[in-house]
Amino acid sequence: MKNILVIGATGQIGSELTMKLRDIYGGSNVVCGYIPSAAPKGELLESGPAEIVDITDAKRIAEVVDTHKIDTIYNLAALLSAVAEAKPQLAWAIGVGGLFNTLEVAREKNCAVFTPSSIGSFGPDTPHVKTPQDTIQRPATIYGVTKVTGEMLSDYYARRFGVDTRSVRFPGLISYTTPPGGGTTDYAVDIYYSAVKGETFKCPLKPGTFMDMMYMPDALRAAVEIMEADPSRFIHRNSFNIASMSFDPEIIYNKIREYVPDFKMVYELDPLRQKIADSWPDSLDDTCARMEWDWKPEFDLDSMTRDMLVNLRKKFGIEVNEPQAR
Ligand code: SER
Repeated sequence: MKNILVIGATGQIGSELTMKLRDIYGGSNVVCGYIPSAAPKGELLESGPAEIVDITDAKRIAEVVDTHKIDTIYNLAALLSAVAEAKPQLAWAIGVGGLFNTLEVAREKNCAVFTPSSIGSFGPDTPHVKTPQDTIQRPATIYGVTKVTGEMLSDYYARRFGVDTRSVRFPGLISYTTPPGGGTTDYAVDIYYSAVKGETFKCPLKPGTFMDMMYMPDALRAAVEIMEADPSRFIHRNSFNIASMSFDPEIIYNKIREYVPDFKMVYELDPLRQKIADSWPDSLDDTCARMEWDWKPEFDLDSMTRDMLVNLRKKFGIEVNEPQAR
């Protein structure tokens, strides 16, 4: 049985992953670690223990690990790519300083650690189509610099100290639950909100901007499955490419229009996000994850779109125009 601490448990991934982990391992065995400006509410607060854990405070991480006899840490604290460009020092303090604190506690107290990396760990010199697992990274953003550093630091702790570090490179994540904030892939979430609210979507990226994306249920499953995987099969640890779909704004717009025919989109480019997106891969090759721990996505663009529209309509109490399967 695992005793888990989720750091950053109220964020885009954490709010859903904490609930999934509680379903699997039991509510009282999964601690929701949060910062006071993002306190848990509702189900997240009521379904298990919650503790203030600022990842920049190593002493506090150690205290919570001791109190709850933690053996596994999910480290989800991060600033997303666009907001990190506005606050590079804070992005480093959380992404690298925070990870270092977490790894040190894990080394001393024998915890396994999951820390997501990202498509943002790649850069302009990376082969952009079917990006291989092992290739040039050299990201151009501070977000990417923290992610590559995190991958290397996590591998170092595994090699040097035997800390059980594992991770995946997440694509842009799409969900109807907690919205992302300040990412480059956020448009692919926002577009669904506009579609169900009957608003014209202002797309910040130009047509032809391909990026890898994934529906949140697949991403959550990956985070659980990699930590449950048999490590004797691992050739890699930090971090595995995982993939399920790649599209540009035109493709997702036209997919949504299959179910919302009068949906409108216009382009209002955001130069910062465009520059970041242009430096990231168009699509990832996830063969190593498939071979080393049997990774397999379940959702494609069509099944994700149907599920997003149904659930967002429920969320906003909109009953008309239920999307029909073709
Ligand atoms: N979704 C992240 C971002 O856009 C990338 O991992 O910043």
